[in-house]
Amino acid sequence: MCGIFGYVGKKPAAPILIEGLKTLEYRGYDSAGIFVPGFGVVKSVGPIANLEKKITSDIKGDSGIAHTRWATHGPPTELNAHPHLDMSGSVALVHNGIIENFRELKESLVVQGVTFKSDTDTEVLIKLIGSLYAGNLYEAVKNALKRVRGTYGILVQDEHRPDVIVAARMGSPIVLGVGADGNFVSSDPSALLTHTKKVIYLNDGECAVIKKDSYEILNLAGKKLQKNPETVEWDLESVQKQGYEHFMLKEIFEAGEVIESTIRGRLILEKGKVRLGGMDAVLPKLASLNRLVIVGCGSAYYAGQVGRCMLEEYAGLPVEVELGSEYRYKRNLSDKKTAVLAVTQSGETADTLASLRSAKKLDLLTLGIVNVVGSTIARETDAGVYNHAGPEVAVASTKAFISQLVVFAMLTVLIAREKGMSQAEAKKILDELNALPSVIKKYLSDTKDIKKIAKKYSGYKNAMYIGRKFHAPIASEGSLKLKEVTYIHAEAFAGGELKHGSIALLDKDFPVIAIAPKDDVYEKMISNIEEVKARSAPILAIATEGDSHITDVADDVIFIPKVHPILQPIVSTIPLQLLAYYVGVEKGLNVDRPRNLAKSVTVE
Ligand code: G6P
Repeated sequence: MCGIFGYVGKKPAAPILIEGLKTLEYRGYDSAGIFVPGFGVVKSVGPIANLEKKITSDIKGDSGIAHTRWATHGPPTELNAHPHLDMSGSVALVHNGIIENFRELKESLVVQGVTFKSDTDTEVLIKLIGSLYAGNLYEAVKNALKRVRGTYGILVQDEHRPDVIVAARMGSPIVLGVGADGNFVSSDPSALLTHTKKVIYLNDGECAVIKKDSYEILNLAGKKLQKNPETVEWDLESVQKQGYEHFMLKEIFEAGEVIESTIRGRLILEKGKVRLGGMDAVLPKLASLNRLVIVGCGSAYYAGQVGRCMLEEYAGLPVEVELGSEYRYKRNLSDKKTAVLAVTQSGETADTLASLRSAKKLDLLTLGIVNVVGSTIARETDAGVYNHAGPEVAVASTKAFISQLVVFAMLTVLIAREKGMSQAEAKKILDELNALPSVIKKYLSDTKDIKKIAKKYSGYKNAMYIGRKFHAPIASEGSLKLKEVTYIHAEAFAGGELKHGSIALLDKDFPVIAIAPKDDVYEKMISNIEEVKARSAPILAIATEGDSHITDVADDVIFIPKVHPILQPIVSTIPLQLLAYYVGVEKGLNVDRPRNLAKSVTVE
């Protein structure tokens, strides 16, 4: 995600800001910028090295604020990069997070004659701060934040007061670094470590007024708070992983927050409606499609298969799912009432992109579910939805896959409502989706059983994953995760298909992972598990909490909470990701960078 860095001290600020941004590079970004009072804003798109080239030696100020942007509102351009300035051009802001009510705020500012240059929610915030600024920067920030709904970690600095940086936090981290001859502030303690190990974490609703030899922590009511620095004991790499042993584990554990940011501002619960701004223009077309073709590769392809189940079951929309590497070469028989939806984390996968372009040649409506804002596929589709899952560092997709399923659930309700789904039915789904982050966070708070089970299953050379309906593609995704990070040969089948051939493989050394939550095919799955049991294969079941029967048929069980059927695959995925992760770790493998794989496959 975006990164923030600020410095106020005695040394030239520009090189310190650039170094700070470089430590934040691992988080992923697409553009960057700095503000040094007296020298204004310098921004660039692409790597920090591009920004560095623009920093001349005459930028001599000894304080400033800096930002790496991972685009959420508007493409990654210099115009959209931070810092943003107020109307006077002298107050600058860097911001992580999303201002949910930015449209309302913008409208009220426009009425006052305020004009805007970028597409960002951040520019709205700085223009609001500027409009309330009457000499005391903290007061202006505080008063502006009282009108803001959403999440933010911010730094604000005034050209005319280079000795002060104001920071504030709500849902997006801000941490102060207390240095010997200057103070630092960042969204990420890893960026502070080369300067100081003494840090102060801001809590939500707290602000800091930072000067070179002092700092003050206050709340939004103006009350001063006493907070003492604590000492960071970690090294740089472990701080970047936030204490997790690997990025993959960190990203699995981020699932709750990822769902929060994927749904943020998009559910209108009281009306049982979904708002996906990027789909507004094509909504009437979506409702009257004859067919939707979903295209993706790897995990994105399996997300598409789950999406098909959702869209067919709840929106009554006929769907096909195609591999990017196949669709691009197939004879395309689509009529004009077919749309093609590309699902992709990176937005750059060559096969998915080629498929999209072949659909465009036929003049079909093209759509995208894309994580990386401004990526090629995001730019080339007619309409789409961004995941807002944040950057994924580990090669094997985990949190992006979860986010893709969440987008499919929202898209399903969006289309279903156009096609007659009742408000009550939609509301039921959306209420559960809204509660899902806390269900997942609670579930992830105790996963030691999965670790134990993984140890037991790490010695096998093969594994078979089975599931039915919504969980058939989840079986495929589970087996893909195992293959990717453990190199164990794994296959996946729809439970009912096993008996038509692959069951011949099974014996006591070939375990079966059966995804069998209590749903409308539960009884059928139990029969499939019995078939497996009769061949002496060890069985690990993923089952619903409270299912007392499952322990009679399975050797091991990982229980998961029950949620609405459309959301159940999201929950079922998490133990499968953890299972693969823990088996990989048990085998001593590099789970973040598996052999032969690339995060983004931009060649055919
Ligand atoms: C690569 C990655 C997979 C990913 C696939 C599609 O193979 O290793 O994790 O699922 O590409 O990537 P995309 O960026 O299009 O989602």
